[in-house]
Amino acid sequence: MTKIDFAIITCSSTRSLAEDTAGAALAEKIMQNGWNVMSHGIVTDDRKAIAEAIIVAEYEGADIVLTCGGSGLSLADVTPEATADVCDRNVPGIAEAMRAKSLEITGRAMLSRAVCMQRGKTLVVNLPGSKKAATECFDAIYEQFEHAVEMTAGGGH
Ligand code: MTE
Repeated sequence: MTKIDFAIITCSSTRSLAEDTAGAALAEKIMQNGWNVMSHGIVTDDRKAIAEAIIVAEYEGADIVLTCGGSGLSLADVTPEATADVCDRNVPGIAEAMRAKSLEITGRAMLSRAVCMQRGKTLVVNLPGSKKAATECFDAIYEQFEHAVEMTAGGGH
């Protein structure tokens, strides 16, 4: 098993950490897989604040950053833009897989503007903000996390 350090960044101007059931459910799933949650915080729906939180998570050594929320069509939703502001490379297949699998559950999945990108060796994945949607999207992609981290570290197939 590959050890993976996760940072969870919930992007919400209304939610407190205690109210963040989506972030808590993601943390639970991470731990169930034997991985580590190195940080879990809330930032407001502010492009600079989200970008800063991603920079900090990468600096602290997170292998994977899961953002939670702010990826819809409201003009206040700026998580994909903040992610692109501070990341170097797109990893489109992860967002494509999330939307494809989610569309089997709800047509609303097409309203996700989520992106998945790399900042250095850190993979940043935008997840939706509700507990149901965030965990459905996590379930759609988590089986590839270990291989993704191994490849990023320089491992082959
Ligand atoms: N994906 C899954 N699996 N299940 C869902 O219920 N909701 C969609 C979409 N993706 C949904 C989903 C909706 S309604 C929106 S607006 C977008 O995710 C973005 O959510 P966010 O604004 O909370 O980030």
